[in-house]
Amino acid sequence: CALLGTSVSATAGPVMDDIVKTGELRVCFDAGYMPFEMKSKNGSFVGFDIDIGKMMARQMGVKYVPVNTAWDGIIPTLLTGKCHIINAGMTINAQRNMRVNFAEPYIIVGQTILLNPELEGKIKSYKDLNNSKYTIATKLGTTGEQAIKRMISKAKLNVFETQSDAVLEVANGKADAFIYDMPFNAIYASQNSGKVVHLEQPFTYEPLGWAVAQGDMDMLNFLNNFLRQIKGDGTYERIYDKWFKD
Ligand code: ARG
Repeated sequence: CALLGTSVSATAGPVMDDIVKTGELRVCFDAGYMPFEMKSKNGSFVGFDIDIGKMMARQMGVKYVPVNTAWDGIIPTLLTGKCHIINAGMTINAQRNMRVNFAEPYIIVGQTILLNPELEGKIKSYKDLNNSKYTIATKLGTTGEQAIKRMISKAKLNVFETQSDAVLEVANGKADAFIYDMPFNAIYASQNSGKVVHLEQPFTYEPLGWAVAQGDMDMLNFLNNFLRQIKGDGTYERIYDKWFKD
């Protein structure tokens, strides 16, 4: 369409321009973070973020291209243009907001605790873990790691590249607790009953948002309007129910 072509290429910001020019929405995420993004048995990516990312691309009229990226390199991957957006359950916080722009939050979560069952009853909140005799596992570069350093600083901290390695430490009895985003912990606990005990009360407040490079208001404007639309027309609820209701 000539009108769309001229108006978009003449005025849109660099990210939106590249999406239109290449006909692709390249989306960064880090698979393994249930139920937001997982690698299925046949190698395809599935989850809440994946379905929403596909819906974004569909509404833009471009192809959805998944870019699975290790978590601690995900912001550099965005900033070097290898993806157009991070849609990966990323917590909006001040530190990250100095480097990227965030759309309005698409869900709110918080950190919760998966306990070694032997500590059930003894540990009732994160405060009880703040003791050098306890070891806590989490994933490198996450807000879980930040929360432990900030709020449970006396405990021994073991960070792992992947959430599956980190959470295994508790299931194996090598760590006393695993701290991570509540939805992941709820699913893990339901799949591993007897091996971990979930303290379900979140002890941090974490809005999750889509991140884009700084300086592209057109992309941000698109994302905020897209979010309002899918929240209002039932699309968000349908996708949410698919991944969060069992
Ligand atoms: N919300 C947490 C954070 O922002 C964890 C997100 C992990 N996401 C992932 N795709 N592995 O640090």
